[in-house]
Amino acid sequence: QDAVLDGFASYYEMELHQSAEALYDTVSALMDGNRAPVIDQLRIDAYELARVRKVVIIGCGTSYHAGLVGRYLVEHLARVPVEVDVASEYRYRDPILDADTLVIGISQSGESLETITALRDCQVNGARTIAITNVIGSQLSRVADGVLYTRAGPEISVASTKTHLAQIGALAMFAIYLGEIKGTLYPDEAKRRRQELAEMAPLIRTTVEREGIWRGVVEQYLLLDRFFFIGRNLLYPVAMEGALKMKELSYIAAEAYPAGELKHGPIAMLDEQAVVVALLGDDRLHDKMLSNLEEVRARGAKLIVVAPDGDQSADDLADAVLRVPPCLALHAPLLMVLPLQVLAGWMAKVRGLDLDKPRNLAKTVTVE
Ligand code: G6P
Repeated sequence: QDAVLDGFASYYEMELHQSAEALYDTVSALMDGNRAPVIDQLRIDAYELARVRKVVIIGCGTSYHAGLVGRYLVEHLARVPVEVDVASEYRYRDPILDADTLVIGISQSGESLETITALRDCQVNGARTIAITNVIGSQLSRVADGVLYTRAGPEISVASTKTHLAQIGALAMFAIYLGEIKGTLYPDEAKRRRQELAEMAPLIRTTVEREGIWRGVVEQYLLLDRFFFIGRNLLYPVAMEGALKMKELSYIAAEAYPAGELKHGPIAMLDEQAVVVALLGDDRLHDKMLSNLEEVRARGAKLIVVAPDGDQSADDLADAVLRVPPCLALHAPLLMVLPLQVLAGWMAKVRGLDLDKPRNLAKTVTVE
């Protein structure tokens, strides 16, 4: 067991530390040495993709959250409208689908029943379908018209870590390819963007290595038990993933909110016992986010801010700042999710819980 765990106390921690490789291997398998796309398993040709007028992304749990990040990537890079829903809801919405709709089902295992059945229903209704999965030959990969594999290696821990980054990587590669086909990205720009994505791998590695520094900064808040995660734009799904990790691993009440929506309800719950974890991106919403943080501070809640190196704008407001390296705003989810995954792991450890097998959860859910 110890040999497999490579010195880590749990698969969760070990897999979290394999995130850089997971992203790099996924992204580099989807391009050649000249940074042109390699999409031999996509099985939907460029002509058909050019017709796509709507993309729908479905998944469960952590895969659903990757899909939410994917929405921003596809809409921004390919200018195609995207809908995202949890698989078990989408199926029963009486969705409007046709041959110009492309449905992407995301599932680490490729065996989540709800994602498989929802994808199959979409096909019956005329949509083209793609699976993003980590398991070659899994049911989802066989049901879908085409496949984009994530190459994160086996994931044992029930709570996903590295596959989430790989899923975002695959979605980004797809968004770039679709942008090229749709004419929103010139081939040179597409190549540059593929390169930038691959270059996130070393940044992910150095970010994870900051774990010890982060711990020193937040140690005193690990015993509190009411958490809110806030972000805006494509950092909102990251906040959702942070809250999910916290719930899954430490059984602590954690809610995610788009920061601008706080004042429409949840702010009433803030007091000295609450902790707000805020994702402060280097993007056009930065200053709006700062005023959201001032609102939080004024209610007396503890404030932990995740911010890029060099951004000291929240230092006076925050009780603690967890720093990540700066990167393009579009790639920030790949770095900002890491301190949240680490935080959830510590919370569970402080409480003496099993990081790999949280109570009541299964790695793969094959019932509805
Ligand atoms: C379960 C697991 C989650 C996972 C979800 C989706 O609920 O506990 O960690 O995100 O299933 O799994 P999938 O294999 O479809 O990505």
